[in-house]
Amino acid sequence: MLATAGILAVAWWALGQERGPGVSVSGILPEASYVGVETCAKCHQEMIRPFQKTVHSKLAGFERAGEAKDCEICHGPGSQHAETRDRRRIVYYTRLSNTEKAARVGICLNCHRGEPTPEWKGSAHPMNSVFCFDCHNPHRGEAKNLLKETEPNLCFSCHREKRAQMTMPSHHPVREGRIKCTDCHNQHGSTTRPMLRAESVSQLCFRCHAEKEGPFIYEHPPVTESCTICHNPHGTVANYLLVQNQPFLCLQCHAAHVRQQLPPLLDAVDVPEKRQAFLTRCTQCHQQIHGSDLPSNSGRGRLTR
Ligand code: HEC
Ligand code: HEC
Ligand code: HEC
Ligand code: HEC
Ligand code: HEC
Ligand code: HEC
Ligand code: HEC
Ligand code: HEC
Ligand code: HEC
Ligand code: HEC
Repeated sequence: MLATAGILAVAWWALGQERGPGVSVSGILPEASYVGVETCAKCHQEMIRPFQKTVHSKLAGFERAGEAKDCEICHGPGSQHAETRDRRRIVYYTRLSNTEKAARVGICLNCHRGEPTPEWKGSAHPMNSVFCFDCHNPHRGEAKNLLKETEPNLCFSCHREKRAQMTMPSHHPVREGRIKCTDCHNQHGSTTRPMLRAESVSQLCFRCHAEKEGPFIYEHPPVTESCTICHNPHGTVANYLLVQNQPFLCLQCHAAHVRQQLPPLLDAVDVPEKRQAFLTRCTQCHQQIHGSDLPSNSGRGRLTR
């Protein structure tokens, strides 16, 4: 019975792809009939009150698919289960294999059609067997958006390396609650990898750091290319979310003042009063590292002011 239900559901899922992603819950338990929430309440009394706080208990007729109501919109017709108390005679969502999960999600998508985003299908979460009910629990009536956990802990529970990065000396204030992972990522999928809420990395950054957008008369090519050449969006050991501290960051692409007319840097190390210049930040002088509108003293664009 269990196996059949699984296979049937997969078949419906596959069929459903042509019409939309939905799976009709009534087809999974073809011999059972609907009994209504009052019957479920006899044995699952403690689940009723939290459920009544949720939107799924208040659906209008047009929002429901078919005759199912309340519990049975997700768990299917419950007559056989109510008689036998057998877990395998109800549509359950716990302890599922990845194949079973992929089939179950069709039940949610039967109503959440084309939702939660048009890009859901094919995005990293479902492609890696992370489905609606890995993040949402329809029984968490008190939780906003029926989330299993609040952010960022929800995301940290699987993305452990991001928890580590968010604890580094420089980090976006996600743990502090000032921004959320989902301000930058669309957990439901997006057209920009990796599930970003903008058309490009830089466009994403400009949403909150608009002053870096320009256009500037004197541009710095890596800045116009991508902010992540120098910054890690999550967290770093170096200051200012830099992938590397100065001057090493800059020395990846630049020789340090090799021309004679320039303020000496590298060779200044032997001169105590000038040692400072090399050992501190290049941006002490090249303050407009993201681009500037004013020429330098020599009339060139040196990002100095
Ligand atoms: C006569 C008592 C009884 C009634 C009525 C009843 N259940 Fe159950 N239900 C149980 C018992 C006992 C279990 C635990 C079975 C097990 O673990 O094998 C259970 C398990 C479940 C599970 C599986 C939980 C899991 O993930 O393992 C779901 C879902 C469920 N019930 C939903 C419902 C719904 C929906 C209704 C109403 C349509 C309902 N039940 C009516 C007694 C009942
Ligand atoms: C919107 C879909 C949906 C509706 C409506 C719904 N459930 Fe569930 N139910 C789920 C999902 C998903 C889970 C698995 C939650 C988890 O991850 O632990 C679940 C888990 C359960 C479980 C087993 C886990 C537990 O906490 O004991 C029972 C029993 C259950 N539901 C009964 C019911 C009853 C009774 C109702 C109506 C009062 C109902 N459900 C309404 C989706 C739904
Ligand atoms: C019978 C139709 C139906 C089914 C089945 C269904 N939903 Fe919903 N759900 C709705 C409607 C309608 C809303 C309210 C409108 C909206 O937010 O899209 C809703 C709202 C939600 C919300 C937002 C709740 C909030 O408080 O903001 C979440 C999360 C959700 N559903 C998850 C699920 C998951 C997970 C499943 C599958 C286990 C599921 N739904 C199955 C119809 C359904
Ligand atoms: C990786 C975790 C994750 C998965 C998987 C996931 N969600 Fe969500 N969902 C969230 C988070 C987090 C929010 C709240 C976002 C916010 O605070 O803006 C949310 C919000 C929602 C909302 C309410 C707000 C909105 O965007 O309309 C609905 C409805 C919803 N999800 C449905 C679904 C459905 C249906 C699925 C499966 C097809 C799904 N979610 C899969 C994490 C997830
Ligand atoms: C149940 C586990 C789970 C949860 C919870 C979860 N994720 Fe994921 N996520 C994954 C897996 C697995 C992958 C694919 C492997 C990878 O890239 O790490 C993934 C991939 C991603 C990616 C990379 C996408 C790509 O195209 O490379 C982003 C971004 C992401 N998740 C963000 C989030 C955010 C934001 C949250 C919290 C709202 C979240 N995830 C919650 C498991 C989870
Ligand atoms: C300030 C915006 C921002 C915030 C906040 C943010 N991310 Fe990201 N994330 C990005 C960008 C941009 C990339 C792409 C990096 C690249 O292209 O080098 C990325 C990449 C990822 C990836 C895939 C590549 C990788 O680095 O593993 C995952 C997974 C991810 N983020 C998860 C999360 C999680 C979980 C959170 C919350 C704890 C989070 N992100 C918070 C902007 C952000
Ligand atoms: C949703 C808004 C938001 C987005 C999008 C965003 N940031 Fe931020 N960023 C912040 C906030 C808030 C701070 C903390 C500012 C403060 O402490 O005053 C911050 C701080 C920073 C800092 C300074 C960190 C430090 O240690 O002082 C850098 C660098 C930075 N962001 C780069 C980026 C980059 C690169 C992107 C794009 C990948 C980005 N930000 C996207 C909100 C955002
Ligand atoms: C060539 C490397 C480089 C690139 C590319 C780069 N930055 Fe920076 N950014 C820096 C350096 C270096 C600092 C530290 C400045 C200092 O030491 O005063 C910084 C600091 C910042 C700060 C915090 C201090 C401030 O000025 O507000 C923000 C925010 C920031 N960058 C955003 C961005 C954004 C957005 C982009 C993409 C448009 C970007 N950065 C691209 C090198 C870079
Ligand atoms: C990924 C490579 C890369 C990194 C990292 C980088 N730059 Fe640049 N930078 C360039 C390129 C390319 C140009 C434009 C070509 C040129 O003039 O050399 C440029 C131009 C400049 C200029 C203007 C030169 C001129 O001729 O007008 C200055 C000053 C400068 N960078 C300083 C820095 C500093 C300081 C850092 C570290 C915070 C840094 N750059 C990091 C690639 C990089
Ligand atoms: C003490 C101030 C100061 C410091 C510190 C400094 N610079 Fe400069 N830099 C200048 C000045 C002044 C110029 C010439 C400006 C002009 O042409 O008007 C210059 C010019 C440059 C140029 C253009 C070189 C060329 O050949 O035309 C580059 C590239 C550059 N600096 C990179 C760096 C890097 C990388 C660092 C850190 C290792 C650094 N600078 C640290 C003041 C400084």
